[in-house]
Amino acid sequence: AAKAGDNRLILALDQGTTSSRAIIFDANTRVAALAQKEFPQHFPQSGWVEHDPEDLWQSSLETAREAVAKVGGAGRIAAIGITNQRETTLVWDRRTGEAVANAIVWQDRRTSALCSRLKEEGHEELFTSRTGLLLDPYFSGTKIAWILDNVEGAREKAEAGHLAFGTVDSWLIWRLTGGRVHATDATNASRTLVYDIHKGDWDDDLLGILAIPRSMLPEVKNSADDFGASDTEIFGAPIPISGVAGDQQAATVGQACFEAGMLKSTYGTGCFALLNTGTAPVRSTNRLLTTIAYKLNGKPAYALEGSIFVAGAAVQWLRDGLGMIGQAAESSALAAQADDAHRVYLVPAFTGLGAPYWDADARGAMYGLTRASGPADFARAALESVGYQTRDLLEAMHSDWSAGGKETVLRVDGGMVASDWAMQFLADILGAPVDRPVVAETTALGAAYLAGLRHDYYPEPVEMAAQWALERRFEPRMEPDFRDRLYAGWRDAIRRTVSG
Ligand code: G3P
Repeated sequence: AAKAGDNRLILALDQGTTSSRAIIFDANTRVAALAQKEFPQHFPQSGWVEHDPEDLWQSSLETAREAVAKVGGAGRIAAIGITNQRETTLVWDRRTGEAVANAIVWQDRRTSALCSRLKEEGHEELFTSRTGLLLDPYFSGTKIAWILDNVEGAREKAEAGHLAFGTVDSWLIWRLTGGRVHATDATNASRTLVYDIHKGDWDDDLLGILAIPRSMLPEVKNSADDFGASDTEIFGAPIPISGVAGDQQAATVGQACFEAGMLKSTYGTGCFALLNTGTAPVRSTNRLLTTIAYKLNGKPAYALEGSIFVAGAAVQWLRDGLGMIGQAAESSALAAQADDAHRVYLVPAFTGLGAPYWDADARGAMYGLTRASGPADFARAALESVGYQTRDLLEAMHSDWSAGGKETVLRVDGGMVASDWAMQFLADILGAPVDRPVVAETTALGAAYLAGLRHDYYPEPVEMAAQWALERRFEPRMEPDFRDRLYAGWRDAIRRTVSG
């Protein structure tokens, strides 16, 4: 593991879509303490999703303090790593440190019309070639434009240099450092729609199209870098912040996918599959994203990414929307009771569809309902939808990047992978093995690793990768004919749901 004799610890802050977590790791990447807090979601209009910026900060602060207290105080912490829900957009006034509006969450579709207009005006190619992304409301750029255009006085203040933009990492860094540091890392910048992933800089042409003043933007750093130190009063002693990455990229690091050809998929609210393509960015012809996997010592590693907006959220819907289960963990047992003679498909386009379809206006649908359909069929359809969507992504990846040569095994993590049933179905429908690691907290571990790397607390990537440990491999068991038939049914359901 890490440097012998260093008995200090690393604090990882994982600010996610539905909860904030603080996890403290020791030198052997074991969890020493954990605290978690959920916070409210706001849905002010159909397709809108907001977070209160103070909730994001307070829940992060409280969980961090709780975890630090559990291990005996700030003196025990060598460094802080931050990882976060990506794309979610905050704008605040530098003079007061107050946000000018609620955070617009990555799932929010309010800029759908703006994205369509920009596409009609022929801008998509420019955005894609520079940023690796597509014109979809998912990314930060159009959300920043929305705030400037819709919050009273925002544009004037922005033009006068008073406003700062940040993804959640920047917001937390700003608050932790008492407003001394306005920074982000390259992985988070690569999700904004205004960052040139080839040059490694904000792009003035794209900023011009979206009418965003450059003065609002944070400084972009490596994923392991100097992001300042927390104010003394926060933990009782200053702690350096030295690792930052978007949550999906942090999971890529936590899964030790450091070599080109390695692939991970994280099942949280949504599902995000990242394939490391090495030092060269790969342009997708299948509507996947090109993104920065991590940036170390000035050198970016790139990834192809498939982003699905609803994975675990489908199980939440079974619980909270339909009341069919009391707890998420019950979904597997219920799904196992479903009748093979009545297969139902769920297309969980609750907030539109992401990769590879990118239909912001699509909404969810169920197909194949009969009078015999019941809760078990709904539960199975929800869990299976995650497998089908992952297969869509992997098919797109394979056709975009045959250069890898190596057979790719899928490393999985996130809350949903606790379900053996869902993981077995995933292996079955992919026709490929699925590997579940011993350390389930891969996202937080990735952030901790980046923070620790800078202090030589954790070893270099090659050595770290050798320590990655398998908990269980799921081998495909389904008959190929049956697999093909099931997947054809999914494609049919998709065809009926996607517009155009
Ligand atoms: O791109 C959005 C992603 O970063 C959100 O992840 O884990 O908060 O659902 P999660």
